[in-house]
Amino acid sequence: LSARLLDGRDLARRLAPALRTRVAALPRPPGLAVVLVGEDPASAVYVERKHERAERLGFHQATIRLPVDTPQGALEALIDELNVDPRIDGVLVQLPLPSQIDAGAVLGRILPEKDVDGFHVVNTGRLSQGLAALVPCTPLGVMRLIADAGLPLAGCDALVVGRSNIVGRPMAMLLEQAHATVTLAHSRTRNLEDHVRRADLVVAAVGRPDHIRGAWIKPGAVVIDVGINRLADGSLVGDVEFGPAAARAGAITPVPGGVGPMTIAMLMENTVTAAERRQGLAR
Ligand code: GUN
Repeated sequence: LSARLLDGRDLARRLAPALRTRVAALPRPPGLAVVLVGEDPASAVYVERKHERAERLGFHQATIRLPVDTPQGALEALIDELNVDPRIDGVLVQLPLPSQIDAGAVLGRILPEKDVDGFHVVNTGRLSQGLAALVPCTPLGVMRLIADAGLPLAGCDALVVGRSNIVGRPMAMLLEQAHATVTLAHSRTRNLEDHVRRADLVVAAVGRPDHIRGAWIKPGAVVIDVGINRLADGSLVGDVEFGPAAARAGAITPVPGGVGPMTIAMLMENTVTAAERRQGLAR
């Protein structure tokens, strides 16, 4: 291993004191509601982590668990309640949702000012125009990791692999706004290897173990691995073949302990930002 490790756990910890200061300056604690429909084991773990972190930061917090067969109308009625609840500043519906649910309709029902995931079309549109928005947590966390490491983005060739609304698309927008030259690759991209070989920065958000081979990484490149894939033996791996990639890269995120902790940290920040805006404080 020659690459510098980008430690998201450590950065998330270092960001906590400033966040606590912001929380203490609020007239009332920030309120976060997390909604989980069904019992997907990975989602249950993520929701539990969000709950714990919010509690430890002194948030008012509600985790609402609904059965897997919850109808669309019941979920929308819950969103409506949370929208008008004055103690709640942020509403997050854990994805994926069961197949009977129209996820777009649910996300579109959350008030944009409470949309701490940044998935509402208003926040997506605002981000796309470079306006103040609630920004999706994972790409925001990636930007923080890169900034904290002092890695320059202006003019660099950045490759984002994966075009989801949760990660790839907003990631590409943020990198472009930081003046990178961005390529957004996806499942129909021809010769992914050629794109990776040219890239100064690779952000992998595909959800397939070892999808990006270490030998493709340009020497000295920055590698950000958003993937969290559980193998048959129970271990967690990213989308990038870690060992060989770390031997070539200048900097790389581990899985776990890279991007994951930053996603949760940015959710907490977005919730405080939403609370500040809703309680009439600047930001
Ligand atoms: N599922 C995977 N990532 C996310 C996320 O950032 N937010 C929500 N709500 N669900 C997810």
